Amino acid sequence: MSNFSTIYKLSVLAVLSLVQVCLSSCPVMECWYTLEKGRRGGLASSSNQVNSLLFIKTEEQQHDRRTVNTPSDIEHMFFITDPSGSLCHRALNPPVGSIKKPHCELNRIQPQPSSLLWVAPLTDSAQSPLYLQAEWFAATIHGLNKEMSVTSVIRTPPESEHNDVILSVTTKTVFVAARLGETALLDCSFWVDPSSPLHGAGFSVEWRYQFRGNGHLVLGYDGKTDRLSDIRDEGAMLDFESVHQNGNASLILSDTKVKQSGTYICSVHVPYLLAQVALELEIVEPPSVSIHPSPPPLIIPGQTVTLHCEASGFAPLSLDFSWELTDSEGNVTPLGSGSVSGHREGYDGTYSQTSKLQLDSAKLEQGRGGELTCVAEHPGGTRRTSVNLNVIGFSTPSIEDSMAMVGVALVLYGLIKFVSWTFTGSGDDESDEKKKN
Ligand SMILES: *[C@@H]1O[C@H](CO)[C@@H](O)[C@H](O)[C@H]1NC(C)=O
Repeated sequence: MSNFSTIYKLSVLAVLSLVQVCLSSCPVMECWYTLEKGRRGGLASSSNQVNSLLFIKTEEQQHDRRTVNTPSDIEHMFFITDPSGSLCHRALNPPVGSIKKPHCELNRIQPQPSSLLWVAPLTDSAQSPLYLQAEWFAATIHGLNKEMSVTSVIRTPPESEHNDVILSVTTKTVFVAARLGETALLDCSFWVDPSSPLHGAGFSVEWRYQFRGNGHLVLGYDGKTDRLSDIRDEGAMLDFESVHQNGNASLILSDTKVKQSGTYICSVHVPYLLAQVALELEIVEPPSVSIHPSPPPLIIPGQTVTLHCEASGFAPLSLDFSWELTDSEGNVTPLGSGSVSGHREGYDGTYSQTSKLQLDSAKLEQGRGGELTCVAEHPGGTRRTSVNLNVIGFSTPSIEDSMAMVGVALVLYGLIKFVSWTFTGSGDDESDEKKKN
């Protein structure tokens, strides 16, 4: 009986410690902290970024500052409380000793009203509340393996060591690949500290597109007055119910086009504060491939035959051609990439490209032809197409060929018959005439 209770107690302990491990899976993160100019002890410094450590917990009480020993290269430590747990995602917490680390940057920020049309109603009163008189930081963190990115706005009350996350914007789709014409979902969600006076004071969401220095508004939504911006991209939508209920500001892009590939920035505004994350959309469409001429010409032994493989309708522009020949026994001979043309761009932004193969019939093993395949490798998938090559004199005749041969034989037979009849016939006449004479 005592044995049983010991086992019971041990297992309860084990479960409890397991729970504790799970709860305390929030990371201690190295972070580049940007000092303001002239702050580093008044000395001019070539780099104004210093290494800092962020100790993250979901509750203030969990921080135990006494047990912390600081590595020598760490100049600042921040004990951050994030009740939402956004900063406790596993992509921000690599296994001990791992070389790859999340990338983190911490900057001081200044709360201010926004002048954007769909944000302005948030700061109607134009009075900045006392609450804003604190130190404010923004931490931008990119997780491992492009699994997630998060930006958190952190508040440090005056004369305090607490650093509280007030607003977090997270994406779990840092990189999105979508097929042409499909619907793409760009994930973005936000959290506002429910104990903050800014909570419930309204929010707005802005999605912007950025590509090679050009940008435009994709969609703006004022959550306070429930209004969508007049200017917005065709097919761009939010799930309004989900925005209000779960802070799910994900952008839904339907009927995607190639030109929509690029960087998308999800910005969430609450009065005086803003946090944003960036993500990448790529429209990936594999090629259609065909070989020309089709069917290929019959090959005369000793001659070179030219064949083209066309890959069309693909995006992005990244394609590798290869040719191969399979003989009747199934042996595959690689024939290289052929000579690849420049690309052409279609009206829908997809590309086409051609590879020209000059095939020396001597390569056709024992002159017997085989199956010729064109392979187009693309990030969207590998596509291949094949044709049968026949060498004259080696292929078995087809039914059409046999019929033609029979036809030719019949015509020849008729011709010989006719000629011989004409000659022998006239001879007979002559002899007849001779006989008459
Ligand atoms: C957010 O909303 C979109 C669109 O309704 C949905 O597909 C997605 O699953 C939601 N994301 C989360 C995390 O709930």
